[in-house]
Amino acid sequence: MCGIVGFIGANDAKEVLLTGLEKLEYRGYDSAGIALLKDEDVNVTKVKGRIASLREKVDEHVTATMGIGHTRWATHGEPSEDNAHPHQSASGRFTLVHNGVIENYAEVRDQFLTDVTLQSETDTEIVVQLIEQFANETNDVLAGFRKALSVLKGSYALALIDNQNEDLIYVAKNKSPLLVGLGDGFNLVASDAMATLKETDRYVEIEDKEIVLVERDRVEIQKLDGTVVERAAYTAEIDASETEKGTYPHFMLKEIDEQPFVIRKIIQEYQDKNDTIKVDKNIRKAMTKADRIYIIAAGTSYHAGLVGKQFIEKLANIPVEVHIASEFSYNMPLLSENPLFVFISQSGETADSRSVLVQTKALGHPALTITNVPGSTLSREADYTLHLHAGPEIAVASTKAYTAQIAVLAILAVDSARAKGIELSFNPLQELAIVASAMETLTDQKDEFERIAKEMFATTRNAFFIGRGTDYFVVQEAALKLKEISYIQAEGFAGGELKHGTIALIEEGTPVIAISTQENVNLSIRGNVQEVAARGANTCVVSMKGLETDGDEFVLPHVHELLTPLVSVVPMQLLAYYAALHRDCDVDKPRNLAKSVTVE
Ligand code: F6R
Repeated sequence: MCGIVGFIGANDAKEVLLTGLEKLEYRGYDSAGIALLKDEDVNVTKVKGRIASLREKVDEHVTATMGIGHTRWATHGEPSEDNAHPHQSASGRFTLVHNGVIENYAEVRDQFLTDVTLQSETDTEIVVQLIEQFANETNDVLAGFRKALSVLKGSYALALIDNQNEDLIYVAKNKSPLLVGLGDGFNLVASDAMATLKETDRYVEIEDKEIVLVERDRVEIQKLDGTVVERAAYTAEIDASETEKGTYPHFMLKEIDEQPFVIRKIIQEYQDKNDTIKVDKNIRKAMTKADRIYIIAAGTSYHAGLVGKQFIEKLANIPVEVHIASEFSYNMPLLSENPLFVFISQSGETADSRSVLVQTKALGHPALTITNVPGSTLSREADYTLHLHAGPEIAVASTKAYTAQIAVLAILAVDSARAKGIELSFNPLQELAIVASAMETLTDQKDEFERIAKEMFATTRNAFFIGRGTDYFVVQEAALKLKEISYIQAEGFAGGELKHGTIALIEEGTPVIAISTQENVNLSIRGNVQEVAARGANTCVVSMKGLETDGDEFVLPHVHELLTPLVSVVPMQLLAYYAALHRDCDVDKPRNLAKSVTVE
């Protein structure tokens, strides 16, 4: 949550910062601000709301060649102009932006800052006040910065400017993502390379508990004790155009449409010369050595994990447990002798998952991260990474990452099965190619989903999705998609559970969508549809070709029964999209959410 950006060079910093923040807005959009430094004068502009308002408010006459910016997802303190970053020290000398959470901010305030009148309710202001105090005490800004970092507990990506030094941005990182971008005559920092791809594609990763001194033509990374660290730059492989909407009205719609291409890209990336599966042999070894796999994830990635469990158990015969990351520490199961932890995370930055990774690493257990961002924290800190190859996912509601996760899990399961000598007739690469075409058929029928969404969701307060077996996993994802972007209270239920309580909620006109893609549950789920229809529900059945019973249902193109979630989810994504659109919701940036959840 929150995005930071900093620039130091020869040209106008303002435009680089504003454009960077626009690209980082997916990380939080409660409030935003920038600080520009010129001739010892720091000009700070802040707004409650979006970057578009910040752009309008920034004085176009202010020019500077260095500055910092921030887009916020509120943790400490409500979204307001006072709580927006950048924050300044009491004298105004130091200005700071921060992504993360300072856990001991109250203790720091009470121990060191009793004489300071704070201007905001944020944990970040404590940091900048502390830096000023220690810089004054030591008469050395870097020493003061270091001393402040030694006191702070929690997560941070910080960029600090000192109005007495126009040639340096002080940067530090612990647990929150941060990259340094290298340019010709300029350097920059950003929470995500996507923010600054227009400026450079050369980046250096910063590790936890490192400080970086960023100057116009020089970048120095140091450990907290001052030891200089040498680290090579890498070239970011994201094409800047992938981060643009192009002709689409929303990133979500673009990303839904990209799913067939992503599936084909995954086939290509995981296929070797002989048309067989190519998975890193160390991952294969780790999978086959494991006596139990623990999948850890949050939200949509958790829903993909539920589908993945089926693949790994049914195909590779390895027992799997799927856990919600934020619950794992409290409900840690008895672990098997040789567990493998598999973290599924689009962003690779989810703090809840990372905290489990830290915990299980400390216990000495191996970890595999399945992510869309290979250089991300979860990828770096796990022993192995599998890349989703989905391209940047910018809409807050995840779509193409979910289907990519399921496709990669299917490939992984088959690879492990083969490594264990299990003979399978299921060829995931061939079957995924069929899925890609089926997805295209569905994304070509947008008018139909728009019509259904309008009819079922235009004014409803709530909605239910029901399914059994594999379809139960998909209805949970369908409900999450609908609620997070349209604010309709939606729930995904196991069809059989309805009569154990939930059916009491069905009233005249309540929308109930049922998914039926599995022959063994087809009749039972249709029984559930009858039960809710008899109580007045407005029902819609989405079934797999071959299972349809009624002319009035939406029929999905046929795909292998293991892979049905990849196609049944597409209508659900489109229904959620059109429901949100017709309810005038901000599809790509739903309220209270952020794309990358870097706080626990
Ligand atoms: C919902 C959504 C979230 C994420 C969750 C985990 O559309 O996107 O539920 O799936 O926050 O994020 P990652 O996958 O980045 O760990």
